[in-house]
Amino acid sequence: MIPVLAFFNNRGGVGTTTLVYHVSWKLADLGFRVLAADFDPQANLTGAFLDEDELQEIWPEPPAVPQTIFGSLKPLIEGTGDIGQAALRRVNPYLTLLPGDVALSSFEDELSAQWPNCLDGQERAFRVTSAFWRILQQAALESGSQVILMDLGPNLGAINRAALIAADFMVVPLAPDLFSLQGLRSFGPSIRRWRADWKSRLQRNSEPSLELPAGEMSPVGYVVLQHTIRLDRPVQAQAKWMARIPAEYAESIFGNRPVTTLKPDTNQIAQLKNFQSLMPMAQQARKPIFHLKPADGALGAHLAAANSAGKDFGELARELMSRIGLDL
Ligand SMILES: Nc1ncnc2c1ncn2[C@@H]1O[C@H](COP(=O)(O)OP(=O)(O)OP(=O)(O)O)[C@@H](O)[C@H]1O
Ligand SMILES: [Mg+2]
Repeated sequence: MIPVLAFFNNRGGVGTTTLVYHVSWKLADLGFRVLAADFDPQANLTGAFLDEDELQEIWPEPPAVPQTIFGSLKPLIEGTGDIGQAALRRVNPYLTLLPGDVALSSFEDELSAQWPNCLDGQERAFRVTSAFWRILQQAALESGSQVILMDLGPNLGAINRAALIAADFMVVPLAPDLFSLQGLRSFGPSIRRWRADWKSRLQRNSEPSLELPAGEMSPVGYVVLQHTIRLDRPVQAQAKWMARIPAEYAESIFGNRPVTTLKPDTNQIAQLKNFQSLMPMAQQARKPIFHLKPADGALGAHLAAANSAGKDFGELARELMSRIGLDL
C-alpha cells in the first residue's frame, strides 16, 4: 500500500493548498514519485496545477464524465457499479495530479448516510466509505507514485472524514493566531473520534475481498505559516500565539496537555515565511516559487528569495519524508 499523507486544518485560508502544491513539487524535484490529490470541492489545488484549457478538458459540459475524482466515483454514486478508473493528469514524470471537482460536494450526503450503515456490516456502506482510499491506491499504482499527498478543504464534514480515514499520516498547517488555536480545539477531538469509530466499524466488514484503509491518521506534526500574521497587530501578540501553539497542538491532537513542551517542539515540522510578492508571481507563472526565473519577473532580491524558498521547502520535504519513514 502506498502511504497517504493528508494536509488538514478545519480553519480555512491558512495556506494548506499552497503548502501541498509546493511540497508536491519539491518532492518531485528531489526524485520522489508523487501523487497530489485534490479532495477540496473548491478545487484550488487543481487550479494551481492546470491552465484554463486543461481545466475545460477535465470539467466538460454534462453528460460527459469529468476527468476528476468525481468522475471515478460516478458509477458508485449512481449505483451502476463500483469506483471507476481514476482520471489522472501527469504534470511531469515524477508528479501526477488527481484532479478535484466542485461536484464532489454532492457525495457528502451519501457519505453521511452510509457511515452508520457500516455498523450493520452493509457492503455498500464499506464501499462508499472506503471509495477515496481505493481510488488513491489505484491512482498511485497506475502512476507509479511512492507517496500520496492529499489537500482537504477546511471543515469537519463527511467528505473530510472519509478522506482522513484514507490517510496514514496527517500534517496540520497552522497560523500563529487566535483563529487557528480556536480551530484546534474542535479539530483534535473530531479526529480522535473518527479514528476510533472507524476501528469499530472495520470489525463489522463481512466482505473479505474488499480491502479497507486502516485509518491511522498518524499525526506527523504541524507547519507554522507566518504569512497570516497581521501586520497591524502588535509583535508581542504574535509571539504570544506562537508560544501557545506547542501545548494547544498537543492537547488537541493527543488529548492531554503536556506539563512542559520541548524546545524546539518536536511536533513542529517547519515554519514558513511570508513569501510576499513572490506568491502572486508564482501563481501567474503557474509554478512553485522556487522555480521562478528572471523571465517570470524574479530579478535580483526576488531571485535570491526564490532560491532561499527552495532550500526551505527542500528541508521541509525531506523532514516530512523522514518522519513518515520514506527516506530516499
Ligand atoms: N507562505 C506564503 N506566503 C505568502 N502568501 C501565502 C503563503 N501561503 C499561502 N499564501 C496565500 O494565502 C492565501 C490562502 O492560501 P491557500 O489557498 O493555500 O489557503 P488554504 O488554507 O488552502 O485555503 P482554503 O481554506 O480556502 O482551502 C493565498 O492567496 C496564497 O497565495
Ligand atoms: Mg485550500
